[in-house]
Amino acid sequence: MVRPVTLSSPLLRLDQLLPADAERVYEYCQDPIFERYLHIPWPYQRSDADSFVSGYIPAAWAADSEYTWAVRDPETAQLLGVIGLRLPSASIGYWLGAPHRGHGHIPEAQRLVIEWAFANGVVDTISWQCLEGNMASARSARNAGFTFTGVGPAIQAHRDGTYPPSWHAVLRSSDTREPKDGWPLEQPLGDPPPGADSPAGCG
Ligand SMILES: CC(C)(COP(=O)(O)OP(=O)(O)OC[C@H]1O[C@@H](n2cnc3c(N)ncnc32)[C@H](O)[C@@H]1OP(=O)(O)O)[C@@H](O)C(=O)NCCC(=O)NCCS
Repeated sequence: MVRPVTLSSPLLRLDQLLPADAERVYEYCQDPIFERYLHIPWPYQRSDADSFVSGYIPAAWAADSEYTWAVRDPETAQLLGVIGLRLPSASIGYWLGAPHRGHGHIPEAQRLVIEWAFANGVVDTISWQCLEGNMASARSARNAGFTFTGVGPAIQAHRDGTYPPSWHAVLRSSDTREPKDGWPLEQPLGDPPPGADSPAGCG
């Protein structure tokens, strides 16, 4: 069993979510983009945040089924978002509260989780997926060095029970962390993603 571990750098601290974080998780998860791209319950209730923080996350660490971290400002400990590594698919997923996007937090959070997972032999290949058209997520994965492997059904059923078309990518421990060619990222910034009507998520 992997015990919950804190990962840190001068830019970020990744540690455990606490019951006191539930209110902020609830606030962040009111963002309509989460309905579109994540498979969290919708409408997202305060009780969903409580059970995620106090039930799901510790149980998943104990079961080695998903390692989830709070993404925090290292100085203030403010919760910025969440990142997780789900097993056995070894898929990485992440979100940030809207005020905290665009500051480079996800590249750093991904780097910390990926290098921890590889250095500790947790996995030697990490997968990633997002709903087709989730440009910010895809660019974040490309920037971390993932190789795009194509479009296919989501790994997990989404809240409507479907497996919507998703973009898939992998990063092997032996890969460089440089951005790779081959990503379908020609859409200009801010364009609505194709097929975005159906609820879907990552990881
Ligand atoms: C995905 C997410 C964590 C990325 O964090 P972020 O702070 O927005 O990331 P950045 O600002 O560093 O942006 C990453 C890249 O996406 C681009 N980007 C950001 N918003 C975009 C948008 N609306 N359309 C197209 N590209 C976008 C940025 O320009 C950047 O690209 P570049 O570095 O190649 O120039 C964040 O957008 C988020 O929480 N989204 C909602 C939840 C979600 O979709 N999670 C992933 C599920 S698979």
